[in-house]
Amino acid sequence: MLKSIIRGDLLKRRRALPPGEVAKKSKKIIKRLVEMEEYQNASVIMTYLHFRNEVETDGLVRQAMADGKRVVVPATDVSNRRIIPSLLVKYPEDLAPGPLQIMEPKASSLRLCRPALIDLVIVPGVAFDLEGNRLGYGGGFYDRFLLLTKPEAVSIGLSFELQVLTRLERCPHDMPVNYVLTEDRVIEMKRS
Ligand SMILES: Nc1ncnc2c1ncn2[C@@H]1O[C@H](COP(=O)(O)OP(=O)(O)OP(=O)(O)O)[C@@H](O)[C@H]1O
Ligand SMILES: [Mg+2]
Repeated sequence: MLKSIIRGDLLKRRRALPPGEVAKKSKKIIKRLVEMEEYQNASVIMTYLHFRNEVETDGLVRQAMADGKRVVVPATDVSNRRIIPSLLVKYPEDLAPGPLQIMEPKASSLRLCRPALIDLVIVPGVAFDLEGNRLGYGGGFYDRFLLLTKPEAVSIGLSFELQVLTRLERCPHDMPVNYVLTEDRVIEMKRS
């Protein structure tokens, strides 16, 4: 099936989640994440900042900062369809709505971080499958970005259970994630 059709259907389903459910499930997912060795061993963590009904990452940002981790968030370079990692120092003061209405670092708070320094990348998605394939919003932003991270960096997709499909088509440029976390389970991919 066409990516765009699946995208539309999944976004509709995610939009139907009541706000209380989004918050409750997000808390469970973040709790699962911070219990993982991959989180505990990471010094530099990049995370998306949620918008609309994505799994909420507010709790993760606060927890990671309190745990003494360096937290990096994406700024968007829309014309090149790239995300630029930037170190977060003051949360939420460093942030303002960006070109896609997603919170991102203000120009005055940009502190570029080399992708090779990142140990753990928390990836958003519209849908994931059991093999770590991921469907995003269709810009290829994360596919381009994940290519720049070091080979031992770990990528984790956060997803509500309703966004997990058995099998998603993978195009040659699509970068899979190492784990998918939902409110019910940890899906771990074998690393080659
Ligand atoms: N590494 C890359 N180099 C050049 N073009 C790329 C690369 N990765 C993806 N693209 C292009 O980006 C477009 C969108 O890709 P795709 O449909 O996989 O987006 P997505 O994974 O849903 O989005 P996102 O990663 O932004 O959440 C495609 O036309 C694809 O060819
Ligand atoms: Mg893709």
